Amino acid sequence: MTTVDQNHTLTGTGVDGVSIPAVGFGTWPLTGAECTASVLQALELGYRQVDTAQNYGNEDAVGAAVRESGLPRDEVFVTTKFNRESHGDVATLRRAAEASLERMGLDHLDLLLIHWPNPDQDRYVQTCESLATLVETGLIRAWGVSNFTPAHLHRVLDAGLVPPVNQVQLDPRCAQRQAQAAHAAAGVRTAAYSPLARGGEVLGTPEVTGIAARLERTPAQVVLRWHLQQGRLVVPRSANRGRQQENLEVFGFELTAEDVAVIDALDTGEGPRLDADTYGH
Ligand SMILES: NC(=O)c1ccc[n+]([C@@H]2O[C@H](COP(=O)([O-])OP(=O)(O)OC[C@H]3O[C@@H](n4cnc5c(N)ncnc54)[C@H](OP(=O)(O)O)[C@@H]3O)[C@@H](O)[C@H]2O)c1
Repeated sequence: MTTVDQNHTLTGTGVDGVSIPAVGFGTWPLTGAECTASVLQALELGYRQVDTAQNYGNEDAVGAAVRESGLPRDEVFVTTKFNRESHGDVATLRRAAEASLERMGLDHLDLLLIHWPNPDQDRYVQTCESLATLVETGLIRAWGVSNFTPAHLHRVLDAGLVPPVNQVQLDPRCAQRQAQAAHAAAGVRTAAYSPLARGGEVLGTPEVTGIAARLERTPAQVVLRWHLQQGRLVVPRSANRGRQQENLEVFGFELTAEDVAVIDALDTGEGPRLDADTYGH
């Protein structure tokens, strides 16, 4: 059986092996009491990673759920991301981390990501350096980037820095082959956001539904398993209890190499919805 660990390890500049649950709970666009209830439900079901961001306006609601869950803090992995105005030196990054922690009512972050590279500011390389330094303070356990293209990543690598993770839009139709290759070559862990293609037509393609029927699993489970067997982290989002549970139950079966190849072949080669050279916040 293809072994898929329930936890992956993040390593990179300043980060020497931090364990992260492979399936995280995505929280955009949930906010307020609905978000807290949803995250609490997810934690009850067994999720141990929660993915939020300053930009989602729900760090307060996510933090409340983590605190109310009764789980020891070190059993829940909290990922958040910051906006463009917080790119910069270590003091700027420290303020960003502290502001997130204040909103969440927590004392440290497990993973802090640059949400978008915002190349117009040309501060993302410095920001990576600052994040790697910030780990030493204990405010964050690991750092990473999001929405970095291979070109952005190469500038960071050229500066001698290896981000432990890059969270990018990735699903069977948008498999981001170049990004995956760049990550593999550099030792950067890929995290897939919108891993279910937002629940759209990918889940209804005959290739996916056929594999799901044979394995007596759902199309979403097949797609999540496809990610996991290729070593990616995933952060699916569902407001529905049954689907939350379904998205977590992806460790008790396996896809054959042929199944993986069939899903790989669905890639259209098209890039993500948003262009990180021109879009960012
Ligand atoms: N770094 C970034 O820039 C970035 C950008 C976008 C998203 N993200 C993160 O990634 C997370 C997930 O991405 P996403 O929300 O865009 O897309 P997604 O997780 O691929 O899809 C969510 C949609 O799929 C449906 N769904 C979930 N589980 C399902 C299942 N088992 N069967 C059928 N449908 C299912 C959900 O509906 P129901 O709620 O009705 O189940 C929802 O409409 C976000 O919440 C956020 O945390 C990060």
